[in-house]
Amino acid sequence: MRANLGMSLPVMAATAAAIVSPDGTGRLPALGWNSWNEYACDISEDVFIRVADLFVEYGLQELGYEYVNIDDCWSNRELRRDNVTGRIIPDYVKFPSGIHGVAEQIHARGLKLGIYSDAGTLTCGGFEGSLGFEQTDAETFTEWGVDYLKYDNCNVPEEWTDEYIFYPEHTDNAVPPPGYWYGDSRTAERYNAMRDALLDQNRTVQYSLCAWGHARVETWGNETGHSWRMWGDIVPEWKGQYTYSWGLVPIITQAARHWNDTDFWGHNDWDMLEVGNGNLTLAESRTHFAMWAAFKSPLIIGTRLEGITQPVLDILRNKELIEFNQDPVYGVGVRPFNYGCHIPIPNNETEHPPSHYVGSSTKGIHLFLINSYESERSIEVAFEEVPGLRGLGEDEEYIVHDMWTGKDIGVFKGSYTAAIESHDTAALRITTIHGE
Ligand code: GAL
Repeated sequence: MRANLGMSLPVMAATAAAIVSPDGTGRLPALGWNSWNEYACDISEDVFIRVADLFVEYGLQELGYEYVNIDDCWSNRELRRDNVTGRIIPDYVKFPSGIHGVAEQIHARGLKLGIYSDAGTLTCGGFEGSLGFEQTDAETFTEWGVDYLKYDNCNVPEEWTDEYIFYPEHTDNAVPPPGYWYGDSRTAERYNAMRDALLDQNRTVQYSLCAWGHARVETWGNETGHSWRMWGDIVPEWKGQYTYSWGLVPIITQAARHWNDTDFWGHNDWDMLEVGNGNLTLAESRTHFAMWAAFKSPLIIGTRLEGITQPVLDILRNKELIEFNQDPVYGVGVRPFNYGCHIPIPNNETEHPPSHYVGSSTKGIHLFLINSYESERSIEVAFEEVPGLRGLGEDEEYIVHDMWTGKDIGVFKGSYTAAIESHDTAALRITTIHGE
């Protein structure tokens, strides 16, 4: 037996009111694919069926990827809703079989289908939203066979604006009176209306709140959905920062602050993966995938699978990182150390998010070390400073294992020094030699 070192790390109690689906849906972060990052509105039925086929062909399904998710722009923008039934009308040019037909084809491959709507009058792309139509839309989606709903936050009418607006990127947010709980905000109300409508249906739907961290969603999201977006949109850049979108560095910095808002049944969502997109280097893509897995974010692939290069596919198929993300026993992700204890976590303009992270899995203690500098760096970690290893004595010997190669690096005493490429992340597993 491996030493159960993980027990000495703090474990957050799951919120009593978390949504617990009888079939386990949402207990672990969702694994899947979504169209937005690569295709935006240029979607069609074929895109999703092809993705489903490639999930099977590339062994992604075997690794646990199961949701094939349609994002914005799937409905008929002119007709919007059926005059008689009030149901949203799909765009039958893009989806000749309708969403129901697509669901059948996705299900036939043993996979699940996700759809997208918005807790406002229109989606971000200007298509029909669900505010005020929650029951009808929940009924329609579940009848079609939908298994996952991403619920966005655009076009919110004035009367639904929060009394105390909170946007995570802003520093001048309204200060609510002491004791105020954002679970009473209008944002929460809009998202709860869809939760209630979904729970009324005879089908389990994974409910993904795309609330961008607004109204401190992490404080009430667990009672509303299975995951909640914590920040604006991701872009495939190392440290970009635009009005509504951000590169990896600011997102990782924010994720480090919120490491303990995630546990079984409820996950901070750091947005869909950009691995394979834009100009991200392979090193940056490794950091992206490793940290999203380590923070237990949903892992939703956002790149074109046709023609995907082998190194990109290898990142997305890293079994050990997926296993960490999906660990059946440890629901909490990694937390920063060194930073977080004595040194404040930097602000979002920084080029350097916390570099050292630690977490537990059924296989041992895991270290994630980010090199955010422009050249290769060696990062030395003294075992004595790692929470969970601390106190085992300086004579203890440790097996250091590389989660990227799947191989043991060797046995070390006192400390281990990792040489890490610029913008890359070392993903290590540490066990004592008394382990198996
Ligand atoms: C954004 C959302 C993106 C994508 C887009 C579609 O608000 O954060 O992930 O869904 O809308 O218009």
